[in-house]
Amino acid sequence: MIKPLVAGNWKMNGTSQSVQEIKALDEKARAANAAEKCDILICPPSTLLVAFSHILKDSPIKLGGQDCHANATGAHTGDISAEMLADSGADYVIVGHSERRMDHKERDCDVKAKAEAGWRAGLKVILCVGELIGERSADLTLKVIERQLKNSLPEGATADNLIIAYEPVWAIGTGLTPTVSDVAEVHDFMRKTLIDLLGDQIGGNMKLLYGGSVKPGNAKELMAASNVNGALVGGASLKADDFAGIIAAYE
Ligand code: 13P
Repeated sequence: MIKPLVAGNWKMNGTSQSVQEIKALDEKARAANAAEKCDILICPPSTLLVAFSHILKDSPIKLGGQDCHANATGAHTGDISAEMLADSGADYVIVGHSERRMDHKERDCDVKAKAEAGWRAGLKVILCVGELIGERSADLTLKVIERQLKNSLPEGATADNLIIAYEPVWAIGTGLTPTVSDVAEVHDFMRKTLIDLLGDQIGGNMKLLYGGSVKPGNAKELMAASNVNGALVGGASLKADDFAGIIAAYE
């Protein structure tokens, strides 16, 4: 039995005012005993990690970074290392998000190096994969996912230190979602590929998240799809009510 993970990616949103939202989410999650049914994670901008980590000190809600540099320290203006994220209270880091792949030209080999950096700092890594709309229209979805998995998976993955998030790029922030059977097709394929690459024990038990326009209204249906073990949520993770509504898919 794989314990699901509901993760929120705040992207470039949130200021010191947002402590109210995180306090409200903590209260809702505790009241619903949500952590018994799923792991809960918020990845705020790194400017808020320290403040949130104080608020969530005894909370079941964990914190993560949205990206990290491959190196631990050095002359990399504006970058943040995995060690710095861990030092700020993070337990997780997202790598390979499509917005990083597009905005910062990150390649599979960069994503792999970032995942290794996350492990070096003791973080659990959420590695994102997903196809562009043109790739889906050309029936290339599974090929793209296979290529991204094979080229960005670092050596040493376990079901505990690595989580895969399938985020079709065209579904992110658009309100569009694949059908439940399309999600299941990709997740079943990822499960099989991971078992082929890593064996039954690791590949069979790794959490596979779906992300892309997950909302309270569609979460139950999407989370029930075959081999979906949770969600990576963007816009709807910014408001405690909406995110709690998604977590409730597991109640
Ligand atoms: P939305 O939930 O806003 O579509 O974003 C998904 C996402 O990119 C999470 O990483």
